[in-house]
Amino acid sequence: MCGIVGYVGKQDGVPFLLEGLQRLEYRGYDSAGVAAVKNGTLRVHKAEGRVRAVAESLPKRVTGTLGIAHTRWATHGPPSDVNSHPHCDTEGRVAVVHNGIIENAVILRDMLHAEGVELVSDTDTEVLAHLIARAEGDELDDRVRAALQQVEGAYGIAVCDAGVPDRIVVARNGSPVVLGVGNGEMFVASDVAALVRHTQQVVFLEDGELATVTADGFRTFTLDAQFTNKVATAVELSDDDYSRGLHTHYLRKEIGDQPEAVHGTLRGRLDHRFATARLGGLELSARELRSIRRVKILGCGSAYYAGIAGAQLIESIARLPADAEPASEFRYRAPVIDPETLYVAVSQSGETADTLGAVLEVQRKGARVLGVVNAVGSSIASATDSGVYLHAGPEVSVASTKAFTCTLTVFALLALHLGRVRDLGPGDGERLIAGLEALPDQIDEILATEEHVAEVAGRIAGATSAFFIGRVRGFPVALEGAQKLKEISYVHAEAYPASELKHGPLALITPTLPTVAVVPDDEMLDKNRNALQQVAARGGRLVAVAHGHPGEGLADDVLLVPRSEPELDPILLSIPLQLLAYHAAVALGRDVDQPRNLAKSVTVE
Ligand code: AGP
Repeated sequence: MCGIVGYVGKQDGVPFLLEGLQRLEYRGYDSAGVAAVKNGTLRVHKAEGRVRAVAESLPKRVTGTLGIAHTRWATHGPPSDVNSHPHCDTEGRVAVVHNGIIENAVILRDMLHAEGVELVSDTDTEVLAHLIARAEGDELDDRVRAALQQVEGAYGIAVCDAGVPDRIVVARNGSPVVLGVGNGEMFVASDVAALVRHTQQVVFLEDGELATVTADGFRTFTLDAQFTNKVATAVELSDDDYSRGLHTHYLRKEIGDQPEAVHGTLRGRLDHRFATARLGGLELSARELRSIRRVKILGCGSAYYAGIAGAQLIESIARLPADAEPASEFRYRAPVIDPETLYVAVSQSGETADTLGAVLEVQRKGARVLGVVNAVGSSIASATDSGVYLHAGPEVSVASTKAFTCTLTVFALLALHLGRVRDLGPGDGERLIAGLEALPDQIDEILATEEHVAEVAGRIAGATSAFFIGRVRGFPVALEGAQKLKEISYVHAEAYPASELKHGPLALITPTLPTVAVVPDDEMLDKNRNALQQVAARGGRLVAVAHGHPGEGLADDVLLVPRSEPELDPILLSIPLQLLAYHAAVALGRDVDQPRNLAKSVTVE
């Protein structure tokens, strides 16, 4: 969703600001803007639409060695030029960019209005600019602190003041802010993606922390002016990690990244000697792990579907009761929190507001939460009590692919680890380790079938609707397959347990409604064949994702995957469905990487 970039140094910062905004485009936005300070004058240029349009229409006078910039995703007020950030005070001296939502904005607007301030936009952010301009205090950081003390809600902000042209003040509460340390220059952003071309030395602010950033360095402190002692650390990410190389779309690049990404998830975590997995971030002793009675997995969208597959891995391998629930629903249904349950929060971005809210709710009620997160230093990674990173590398395309398979891989590792401190024998441990080690090469085998998958995608792309079916392990794969097709091709798709078809949806089967069936060669194969027969008997077109042909006359097309250990099958079965959705979206000419109405990190409820 929204993105923040800032620069203070010795050269014109505007090229960096525009480049940074372009690097944050993947998060989703509807408008963009830049503010720069030169010779004590603040100049702002902002507009609804793409960053490129803002850059192309940028007046030459918008330049300066200090500036802030923003991509906005509308919350308060529709997308428009005037609602775009930066927002300024009445005199045009203070500029603010803001991610998050100020919950008491209406009260603050009324208060400012009563004091004679004319607000020009519909946004919650504009109040901050006026509050900072009117606050008392000698230093900009004092005025920002005073303003923030009146604010309720979530924010990541960057502020500049034409009267103090050597500094940016930033603050974080529930929305990320990272500082990049350069040589005689400093960078600010809401996401390291905007910085890594310029520096790998970064400082992640904590919630409740502010920083004053000048060309020579930074100083961090709290809302009540207590200094905090932060040092820069190196991020293991470079510009190449955010490049799509020779691919037309990030999504295709990220599907192709999966052999290496899964390898990265497994790296250093398999222990042949004790036939188990080692997860350094777990921070739970064998005794504590044995005292766990249940596992509850929380996530949204694809992260939730990965959680369903994860719960099945844990139940089947560790023999612990486990289930998954959408984090967005869990936090509002007054859940009973059980201290003997291990709660697990899953998030690629680590910034999903609903998932973060669920984490805080569980912690408030006294239980611990384990994070399974891709983005290092993100809000959920910081908020959880312990965590396992995916190490999948940055995922730029809005639709999740490699993070999904790497999350399943982490759950396989977690299940193996939990199983081996409980009742799983070493033989099964070795069997699963061998299965995990084989995954990268097997994914390569699936990627080699892309041409065939693209042909099949061409045959289903014209449908207005599709069913995805699967049973037990195949069901979360079907859910995720339908999600991918919906998100990027805009073809309506629904996933059902194959067993449920006859209880209602079968009424919709016609020759024009294709069904994609996940039918691994496992203990459910015969039952799955029954469902396929029910579809075929009604003239429905069938695409099977399988280890072999599911039976004479039962599928019009078969997408083959190599056999794995049965528990690990969902990882491989998901990959042809990613390619299927991708090629359907390409055939339909969709905006694959930035599908309409969607954002990469959903930082609002
Ligand atoms: C996945 O393709 C979707 N873009 C979406 O469902 C996503 O998985 C969900 O919003 C959760 O995101 P997170 O993993 O960053 O928390």
